[in-house]
Amino acid sequence: MKKIILSVTFFLTALLISAQVNWQQVEPGVWKGIVGTPEAYSLLGVAGISPQSEALKKMPDVNFPAFGNEVVGAVSDGKTSLRIPLVRGEQLYGFGLNFQTVHQRGKILNLHVDHYGGKDNGRTHAPIPFYVSSQGYGVLVNSARYLTVYAGTGVRKDSPNAPVAQDRNTDKKWSSRPYSDAVEILVPAEGVEIYLFAGPTPMDAIRRYNLYCGGGTLPPRWGLGFTQRTQRLYTDEQVKEEVALFEEKGFPLDYIGLEPGWQSKAYPCTFEWDKGRYPDPAGFVKEMAEHGVRINLWTNPYISPASGIYKEMVPLSGSHTVWNGIIPDFSLERTQKIWTGKLKKEHVSIGVSGYKIDEVDGYDHYLWPDVATFPSGLSAEQMRQTYGLWVQKITADMYREQNVRTFGLVRASNAGGNSMPYVIYNDYYSHEDFITALINSGFSGVLWTPEVRGSKTGEEWLRRFQSVVFSPMAMINAWSSGTKPWSFPEVSESVKEYALLRMQMMPYWYTEFAKYRFEGTPPFRGMNLEPGFNVKVTEEVLSQNLEDNPYLEAVNKEVKDQYMAGEYLLVAPLFVGQESRNVILPQGNWYDFYTGEYVGNGEVITVTPGLEKIPVYVKDGGIIPMMAPLLHAPKAGDIVDLEVRHYGTKPNSYLLYDDDGETFDYEKGAYSWRTLTVKADKKNRLIGEISKAEKNKPNTIGKVKWKFMTK
Ligand code: GAL
Repeated sequence: MKKIILSVTFFLTALLISAQVNWQQVEPGVWKGIVGTPEAYSLLGVAGISPQSEALKKMPDVNFPAFGNEVVGAVSDGKTSLRIPLVRGEQLYGFGLNFQTVHQRGKILNLHVDHYGGKDNGRTHAPIPFYVSSQGYGVLVNSARYLTVYAGTGVRKDSPNAPVAQDRNTDKKWSSRPYSDAVEILVPAEGVEIYLFAGPTPMDAIRRYNLYCGGGTLPPRWGLGFTQRTQRLYTDEQVKEEVALFEEKGFPLDYIGLEPGWQSKAYPCTFEWDKGRYPDPAGFVKEMAEHGVRINLWTNPYISPASGIYKEMVPLSGSHTVWNGIIPDFSLERTQKIWTGKLKKEHVSIGVSGYKIDEVDGYDHYLWPDVATFPSGLSAEQMRQTYGLWVQKITADMYREQNVRTFGLVRASNAGGNSMPYVIYNDYYSHEDFITALINSGFSGVLWTPEVRGSKTGEEWLRRFQSVVFSPMAMINAWSSGTKPWSFPEVSESVKEYALLRMQMMPYWYTEFAKYRFEGTPPFRGMNLEPGFNVKVTEEVLSQNLEDNPYLEAVNKEVKDQYMAGEYLLVAPLFVGQESRNVILPQGNWYDFYTGEYVGNGEVITVTPGLEKIPVYVKDGGIIPMMAPLLHAPKAGDIVDLEVRHYGTKPNSYLLYDDDGETFDYEKGAYSWRTLTVKADKKNRLIGEISKAEKNKPNTIGKVKWKFMTK
């Protein structure tokens, strides 16, 4: 009896400090909870998201996840704490762009926009407060603050799952990290909005998150072609020579990036052309366009005293400076207007296709300190967490106004940036970790490029190149190295083959990005989201008291060197020094992408592909629409013949997306999905067909040839 009374008292005390979150459904399968008084300024607010309600309605019907009633929030000491329960064996993914780990349960993270400093501690380019659970739900904390996340580390004394205390002196099973049954998050504000995204699968939860935030981005077709960034001080003549070399050598090139030297002054920036290196910017951009090559401009947002907009911007900027340039307060409409006015006048009006927006992430020694103030009244912390979002949003809206799609690079983002036409990059350069980041980008609603810069050997060059071809942005960033695709003659034929393969696969890439936009499915993602993917825990780890410490299990199970590219492809890169590797095939039959041969089913295979190949496998029934290896993406209205590949033995169908590839007319219905079907004929042979073009809808598809890869 005494025991019961005691536990009731404990329970009441717990209730007094923290309250159950009240949830309100905001979209099908999406609930919003309010704790305390949320701040007016939030991540989703800055991003200005518009949920894709129609697409959300088409998702599987789901009830409110029962565990949501156990989520508690409390405000004390001017801060909000959240507690979200976990069950045994549950795994967590996400919390933004991590580079070394995929499984996040057991971690402590300080989510803080920053350059990546070599540790998965929450300081990264996109420290997104969204995670997805293997139990099939997602959670987003919509706060523009530095959050502390205890992803299953704290153990409450009143927890119904609290492990029993053990004696370290005698008990071998004693663990320094006893079992924790909740994620706990500290928000330094007196309230916060929290979102719960239902599944039923983890992939569905991610789809709902992406759709709620406006759907993923749909790049222009050319954005999915090849891009080269030139050395930092190149002149117009040098760029023209480079473009001529691409043509002469038959390497594809859709857009070329100019690094700091195009500006009259950089670090801080003027946003004005350097008249010495680029005496006739308009003529230069036009000439490049005639060669089928668009121009992308590097910049950072810090304004040089030499810029024509400096004076006007002084009162609209923060208290501090970055490299003695002023820091625009982008939350102010007037600031946005002046800045985009300048960009339009100098660049957009002459046909510049987009930007690489650098230095919006961090390096504490360069950026504004947390004591800085801004004219809008926002704090330095809020500005830091959202600066990347602002520059993306402002520039994306500027292109949208012209009904022209852009596709560029940015070094910081946050929740709500899902639909922004930007890919994240950084200065770090571990090939292995770049692949882990690619996997994590898929859990977080962002895009990431494992860009190629320089290499010590031809082997490294080719291995890196092979990976970047199977990523959101196929790019060489030669700003410092001055490398070209053909820089390593011993592998340059192979590099060319992969650059051309990237172009051939454009119909597939474009369709997979359309699914990101319309269905929320990330085009590049981890194996953990793949049905039938299973990793066995080794015996050694099993003996280490797994029950009490799921973190051990997590790390052992982590697969971060292979990933899914679109619906059907499994990509397994090799790194320098590796001649063979293991590949874990999910359940179902898998086939070699290059030959169509059967390779295995639900097993671990060891492959020795040779330097010329990056292992890529296709799911049974995989339908991959391809085109000729053009050197530039098809322009709006160009008719393109297709070669559609089919792998394996399964009849199947695939929806192929089509639109003008350049404007936002698709948002008004100017798009179509054609069905590619593979079925067995009377003699049980596979045949393929494409559905008729819809009337009054875009149709860029010419002749269709079928290729049955598996004999
Ligand atoms: C770095 C950036 C590089 C390159 C360089 C130019 O900050 O990450 O990719 O653009 O600036 O100075």
